[in-house]
Amino acid sequence: MGRVFVAGSINMDVVATADRHPRVGETVAGKQVLYFPGGKGANQAVAASRLGAPTTLIGRLGKDSFGAELKAFLAGQGIDLSYVQETAEAHTGTAIITVAKADNTIVVIPGTNALVSAEDVGVVPLLKGDVAVSQFEIPLPTIAAFFGRARAAQARTLLNPAPAQKFSRDLLELVDVLVLNETELGLLADVALSDSDDIARILDAARRLQASQDQTICVTLGKRGVVALAGREELIVPGRVVQAIDTTGAGDCFVGALAARLADGAPLRDALAFANAAASISVQRMGAGPSMPTAEEVSAVIGS
Ligand code: RIB
Repeated sequence: MGRVFVAGSINMDVVATADRHPRVGETVAGKQVLYFPGGKGANQAVAASRLGAPTTLIGRLGKDSFGAELKAFLAGQGIDLSYVQETAEAHTGTAIITVAKADNTIVVIPGTNALVSAEDVGVVPLLKGDVAVSQFEIPLPTIAAFFGRARAAQARTLLNPAPAQKFSRDLLELVDVLVLNETELGLLADVALSDSDDIARILDAARRLQASQDQTICVTLGKRGVVALAGREELIVPGRVVQAIDTTGAGDCFVGALAARLADGAPLRDALAFANAAASISVQRMGAGPSMPTAEEVSAVIGS
């Protein structure tokens, strides 16, 4: 079995719940303020670890109370934290989130996540069969160094380019599996996409973006499931109908679950169906990190 290495962000999510989101300039009364472990990198690592993959997280925490709480939570998930450094140079990453009617808005203040460096990822013991995962809440040169190292070790690379920003062709060419939603795909492929576009249009956009015939592009479509372009093959996994209460971290759950199954040698179609089911469980719970399911929970859903 391969292992999962996630280089990425670790945040404390400060969540305000309300009946509806405020408009710009408006104040609304909230219901609760909640503190959840989050950050795209940490969420992906939690998902992979709870789903049974040996998982290592590479990142940075501040020497503050959020950092101490997050470290304790992540250690409790069985994640190898040997490559998570604590630094006094900045505060722990923090996300200010509003949740209303299951949808969220997020403002991320990177703090120590902005300090994750090429040196931090340069010492990671990647091997053939491992999966190297990253997202865009740490500096892009760090991700390029991490993936360059993964390629040299014949490990597989999985990029979740979120929050979306344009990035270089050089970095795209280092990616084996790209996982993104339709909005991110639209931005990166320079195509206007909406959540009602048909599958053919989404696959056309993925084809435009695909850097090589070996590259796999997975497009998560929320309630509509996921479509993937694997080389020339097209795969469609339908969505699962569930009652969502908080979608924060659902994409991260998908990424972590996909990485865990690929590291275990599962075929892409099976890994996509598994990740789709895992994400459908996570949206039925509040919070990002704590909402990630176990392998038993996902198997129960897939078997039903
Ligand atoms: O993807 C959800 C995550 O985005 C949250 O946990 C928050 O920390 C932001 O990084």
